[in-house]
Amino acid sequence: MIKVKLGTATAAFQCEGNLKTDNRGKCVWDDVLLDDKSIAKYNPEPASEFYTKYDEDFRLAKEYGIEVLRVSIPWSRIFPKNAKDVNKKAVDHYHRFFKKMLEYGITPNVTLHHFDSPQWFVEKGDFLSRNNVDDFLYFARFCFEEFTEIYYWSTINEINAYSEQKNIKAALPPFFNLEYGHFFKQQYNMVIAHAKTVIMFKENKYKGEIGVPANVCPFQPIDNKPESISASNRANAITNWSFLEPITSGEFSKETIGLINDVLKNYDFIFKPQEEDLKIIKKAAEIIDWIGINYYFTTFVEKPDDKFEFEVNTTGEKGKSKFSVPWLWKVVKKDGVKTTNWDWNIYPDGLAIVVDWVSNKYNCKKPIFITENGFGDLEDIKNTPFIKDIDRINYIQDHFDVIQKLNDKGENIQHYYLWSHMDMFSWTNGYNKRYGLFYVDFENQKRYEKLSSYWWLEKSKQNRLDEKINIDELLKKIGKN
Ligand code: BG6
Repeated sequence: MIKVKLGTATAAFQCEGNLKTDNRGKCVWDDVLLDDKSIAKYNPEPASEFYTKYDEDFRLAKEYGIEVLRVSIPWSRIFPKNAKDVNKKAVDHYHRFFKKMLEYGITPNVTLHHFDSPQWFVEKGDFLSRNNVDDFLYFARFCFEEFTEIYYWSTINEINAYSEQKNIKAALPPFFNLEYGHFFKQQYNMVIAHAKTVIMFKENKYKGEIGVPANVCPFQPIDNKPESISASNRANAITNWSFLEPITSGEFSKETIGLINDVLKNYDFIFKPQEEDLKIIKKAAEIIDWIGINYYFTTFVEKPDDKFEFEVNTTGEKGKSKFSVPWLWKVVKKDGVKTTNWDWNIYPDGLAIVVDWVSNKYNCKKPIFITENGFGDLEDIKNTPFIKDIDRINYIQDHFDVIQKLNDKGENIQHYYLWSHMDMFSWTNGYNKRYGLFYVDFENQKRYEKLSSYWWLEKSKQNRLDEKINIDELLKKIGKN
């Protein structure tokens, strides 16, 4: 029986703060977040001060049964000015950081790019320009050769989501809105960057394992009408299959290419993967060590109508998000499915859909890591000194049940990383949307346990993920009833 390794996840820019420390260079978000015109307006400083408080966060990890921890090395700290000039201070910092983590007995899983292209790279066109891929490879190679204390590497976090932020949601430069042509162009370049990184890692026989955390949140038809089914196929092809296929099977299916080009008729683009690229993509899919799945929610869709509505919920006020685009699909609510305050459907069965795509639809038999999954909520220690985050606990347990069932049926899910380790800011939702296993008071940077911290410790002692914990007994045990 597989004993799933339990861990938590972070991303450097969301928690480190210290934006000027050790000669850091700006990344794509620095100026954007402070600009009044941006869809998210808040100060990325001090965040959760992970850059200086990591000892405390690792100690909590150790104390509460965390075995593996996702962190990222920010490219803009290591190469603050350009592709080749290394910042020694930052390099030394991360050696100290990993040393400490390893001393606590926690295994790092290190991401090379978590939505944080350096500003100098953005000015050159970011991943929208194919010529820039080599800069990323240079950084990746540097990290593999320098940080030999690392075993688990992740190439690029959520290739599709980073491209969405720049080309669909207008959250990042070049602030394109629903520009699907550019979206595919950038995503394709990032798939190549990922694939070349995997090949370089393997050809140089660096120690350890390499994988890719993919954001896959499926679309389901709201009913059995053929129009709803075709809307969901279109949504899945555009948002999920277009990058999940190349990273798992090493190919783009005819069905997906057809659905993409159908949508691209509305733009001045044709999606046509090149033969040379396909060889690279295929090779990487064959030799990659594991596939990461970031799963949060499932979306229900139906045939679009003439109405155009597109709104991202950035406040946590239920019912704010809207998506209805005449040439795409329309997002609808499904009766009986609960949502978070940010309108994300709580639908653990969606995780089984994703695993089925990877293992069966794309016949990828690599181990699976759930590299992110979690529950964002509004929490305030001023109102409730002890955060009893029962909804988060239920959310995690329900996903654990699905994972256990899948592994019992023969799937090979080896790691689970809860998003997030401690509270940190959310890219387009600011500091109000908290995911942490540990609470952070952003005014004084103090850390506090939540009920989920104690629950997690109990879970870490169990052998099966579907064993339940009695919350009343737990509250009594920790003296919080
Ligand atoms: C994932 C990202 O998409 O989802 C994280 O990898 C992110 O960086 C997380 O924070 C939750 O999303 P959000 O928008 O609620 O912060």
